[in-house]
Amino acid sequence: MTRDHARSKIIFALDFDTFNAAKHWVSTLSGRVGMFKVGKQLFTAYGPDIVRMIENFGAGVFLDLKYHDIPNTVAMASREAARLKVKLFNVHALGGYEMMARTAEMLKTDFPGGGRSKVLAVTILTSSTEETLRAVGIDRPVEEMVVRLAALAKKAGIDGVVASPREVPLIREACGKDFLIVTPGVRPSFASADDQKRVMTPAEAVAAGSDYLVIGRPISAAPDPLQAVEAIVDEIVGTA
Ligand code: C5P
Repeated sequence: MTRDHARSKIIFALDFDTFNAAKHWVSTLSGRVGMFKVGKQLFTAYGPDIVRMIENFGAGVFLDLKYHDIPNTVAMASREAARLKVKLFNVHALGGYEMMARTAEMLKTDFPGGGRSKVLAVTILTSSTEETLRAVGIDRPVEEMVVRLAALAKKAGIDGVVASPREVPLIREACGKDFLIVTPGVRPSFASADDQKRVMTPAEAVAAGSDYLVIGRPISAAPDPLQAVEAIVDEIVGTA
């Protein structure tokens, strides 16, 4: 794998609370990583301007808002995400088949041709345990639910999933090689685990079949963030 290909797999998590902090990081890292992830905090504070700011640097955006609502509302919100030209955005698979199918259908009809936004499904949040699921009436093991929801998402026409690195092999097996798998919970061998519990290195995650890696603090908290990115690229290149 080339260094540029490895670089394109890195999605930097913009977990900052001000527009200027986000802009500083985008200006520092654009061209060095593949994409920037905007979550609920930044988007709630600054709205679409934060997406436009990133795109003005020529960089791609993963809009991590995890839509979960009635099918029409999610399809309409997704249309706005696609109009913002984000590369990736996501919905909760627990919103159900129709919600996902309507969204996938809208993308195909309203944004024909290549280059449209890709939509991912979140299966079971990695913060959820079997007890969390039981309390909401789901009596199945987490792993079984993850694979079941990934397969449902694929059937509905969704482009891929966000998943923990440990879930990648099972999802690959169930959903095939063209299904995108985006994994947070990645820790380069030089970094601390922070609050992440079940981590894999970038090399392990890519070797397991992950297409994109969401990485935040191993870069933002590094003494030299640019050098941290290059070290991550080295680790990924080493796998292929
Ligand atoms: O700093 P760190 O690399 O842990 O950041 C990972 C990012 O991925 C954060 O934005 C976090 O909210 C997100 N994420 C995660 N685990 C999930 C889903 C999202 O860490 N299961």
